[in-house]
Amino acid sequence: MRDAAPTTIYLKDYTPFGYLVNSVHLTFDLADHATRVTSRIAFRPNPDATERTFFLHGEDLALISASINGAEVTPDVTDKGLTVDVPDEPFIWEAEVEIDPGNNTALEGLYMSNGMYCTQCEAEGFRKITYYPDRPDVMSTFTVRINGDLPVLLSNGNPSGKGEGWAEWTDPWPKPAYLFALVAGDLIAHPGQFTTKSGRDVELNLWVRPGDEGKCAFGMEALKKSMKWDEDVYGREYDLDVFNIVAVDDFNMGAMENKGLNIFNSSAVLASPETSTDANFERIEAIIAHEYFHNWTGNRITCRDWFQLCLKEGLTVFRDAQFTSDMRSAPVKRIHDAIDLRARQFPEDNGPLSHPVRPESFQEINNFYTATVYEKGAEVIGMLKRLVGDDAYAKALDLYFERHDGQACTIEDWIKVFEDTTGRDLTQFQRWYSQSGTPRVTVSENWADGIYTLTLNQRTEPTPGQNEKQPQVIPVAVGLLGANGDEVRQTEVLELTEAEQSFQFTGLAAKPTPSILRDFSAPVILEHDVSNAERAFLLAHDTDPFNRWQAGRSLAQDTLLRMILDDAAPDADYLDGLLAVLRDVDLDPAYRALMLGLPTQSELAASLFERGHTPDPMMIWTAIETLRQATAQHVQDLLPRLHSEALVDGPYAPDAAQSGKRALGSAALALTTRLDGGAMAAEAYGNADNMTLQLTALSCLLRARKGEAELAAFYRQWQHDRLVMDKWFGLQVAMAGPEATPGVAQSLTQHADFNWKNPNRFRAVVGALAMNHAGFHQPDGAGYALLADWLIRLDPVNPQTTARMCSAFQTWKRYDADRQELMRAQLSRVAETPNLSRDTSEMVSRILGA
Ligand code: PHE
Ligand code: ZN
Repeated sequence: MRDAAPTTIYLKDYTPFGYLVNSVHLTFDLADHATRVTSRIAFRPNPDATERTFFLHGEDLALISASINGAEVTPDVTDKGLTVDVPDEPFIWEAEVEIDPGNNTALEGLYMSNGMYCTQCEAEGFRKITYYPDRPDVMSTFTVRINGDLPVLLSNGNPSGKGEGWAEWTDPWPKPAYLFALVAGDLIAHPGQFTTKSGRDVELNLWVRPGDEGKCAFGMEALKKSMKWDEDVYGREYDLDVFNIVAVDDFNMGAMENKGLNIFNSSAVLASPETSTDANFERIEAIIAHEYFHNWTGNRITCRDWFQLCLKEGLTVFRDAQFTSDMRSAPVKRIHDAIDLRARQFPEDNGPLSHPVRPESFQEINNFYTATVYEKGAEVIGMLKRLVGDDAYAKALDLYFERHDGQACTIEDWIKVFEDTTGRDLTQFQRWYSQSGTPRVTVSENWADGIYTLTLNQRTEPTPGQNEKQPQVIPVAVGLLGANGDEVRQTEVLELTEAEQSFQFTGLAAKPTPSILRDFSAPVILEHDVSNAERAFLLAHDTDPFNRWQAGRSLAQDTLLRMILDDAAPDADYLDGLLAVLRDVDLDPAYRALMLGLPTQSELAASLFERGHTPDPMMIWTAIETLRQATAQHVQDLLPRLHSEALVDGPYAPDAAQSGKRALGSAALALTTRLDGGAMAAEAYGNADNMTLQLTALSCLLRARKGEAELAAFYRQWQHDRLVMDKWFGLQVAMAGPEATPGVAQSLTQHADFNWKNPNRFRAVVGALAMNHAGFHQPDGAGYALLADWLIRLDPVNPQTTARMCSAFQTWKRYDADRQELMRAQLSRVAETPNLSRDTSEMVSRILGA
């Protein structure tokens, strides 16, 4: 156990820092194990602060010297930072520290990746670079000089000088330290250019290691599209002469929006048809957009404190989702987002890690970069937009940028621009930011005297620290269908604000069929008891693409639950409805591919648990296999047509049209493999000329317990490509049969190429183990033990990545007593590890409910 009691930080305790920063000058003398950082910082007393303690954060720094106004001082130094007496007027602080980037395996602060120096400062990593008020509400301009004998030396802002062995950068935009970045390495630029709407020429570069030059073109185009889109849709223009992106192999997250110098996990930016799947391309396009959009939502307007993280993240996720909808297919994107929210955010919101979109306390802020802050945070903005309308949303955003440019803001500031724009009181709406848990909306219907009444009820289960829940403002988009499938009422948004509320519809000739929560208008769980005949009717007729898909999903879920609970046979309404949808050539192939998806095993486990049953992972797995087999047989005659529809003309393009066809083709191949034992997949593997097809074929073969030769050939072909090898590792764990999974994962961790200190490789194996539901939950506990072994091993090396992966255990209370005990024992074993990081110990104790 940790010796010191963990400190909890509270939102309510916020106070401004006692000093403001006028300017920061940094000099880096780079050396692998002894980098010198010299800082010259101009401070002045903050007139708005009452507290005047001069405390600078600093961790893992060796202080060489410090001075104030040129006179040497001796600060009080602890392992958290330093304090020193300072004058009650503007003064210059100077310090020199030494740091060891070569031994920085946590990948926070200044570290090394394949001989290249790079930084990661969000959330609190700048304090590992030099002494500084490392908090987002302290903003300053930065000038950075880098001395080092590497060919490429980069920092934020615009270049302001360079020579043999040095470069200087000046960032004119005041920023918090978490947006600081530095990169030095032997890198190659993939250049580009963009002219902003007011005529400013911007030099663009995507910097990569030699060998990766061929994987840059797509990312560069995505960047240009993002810059244009933000001008067209939000009126936001780029504000520096250069925009640099750097690809790094060792990175804890996806990417980071450092001002003018975005740093990316190479998996989130490098792409080529031979090495990347369609899904990779789409994700890369979205992440590039996301980081670019942060330039306004995050950088120009930043967060007052880390409790306000959703101010930048929720909004920026919402913006990147809008971008993807515009670039690709809006219904497909919406369905993907709902699938993702249910898979990642709902379990978080309904388990021991549940927290509000704006948390009120934390021990380690890195543990709050969550699906709730990001994705539910984005959903909250989508609801706000739906409630006020598109025009008011646009006006409110203009006001937000105008009023708060250059400031560090709060959710209250954000809400206020909407109130000021619309005159609407959003007090109740703000509960979306403070109340945790997923609201459940129950529907009942009544038809009498020509009046159709929908009664909506909302309730939210207690979550950690919140027993009493208040009603929230829930926009429920509803349309009504007549008996022949015509829409008798177009979509309207019902505003559910009370615990229970009724809405009446008059002027209808007969009882309609409702289509409720269209476009997934709120991140809630809809509970509506309807017959499968009614679901099949919506699957055939709903004009709302989301709800049409949802009808199929509900049918699938219902049949799976009855197969598990009552040993029922696969439901004919589901199979027939699916067949009809697949036959409909007017429907987008991507959409038809989505229709073939099933609820995940983990989602089914949650549904069983909510209905008062104890989920049995093996029974869930078997039900899915059985339903898949039945589906293959039921749609057998259609499969040749689906395969031919999936053929694309011309060269590979990762666009929506082609990737939709390939998605349909992949789904058809998976079904075909259940009927032909893998013959077609083996042929497809041999013919594959892009990674999407190659990986699809290989996964079909592995699922059929074939493909050993292909797996070996894949290794030989790709062993020198790190990103493709991550796929090779991950796929084997994902496709392993339940009993085999822990053993497969265990033996892959012994593989010579299993570099466990690389987060991508670690996630490819250990993360995939946690994602393979039936495999992870093997009754002997082998999956749990293997995960815990690796958490314990990784924690001292990389606490952030370790802590994130603890969430694999967050659903432990859903399962039977034996599994609960096995998981609890492993969690305790992790918790009792000596010197456990603050990150992991907070996660484990929250999961255990301690
Ligand atoms: N701010 C980054 C993003 O959302 C995520 C991130 C957080 C990256 C912390 C690194 C460290 O784009
Ligand atoms: Zn972000």
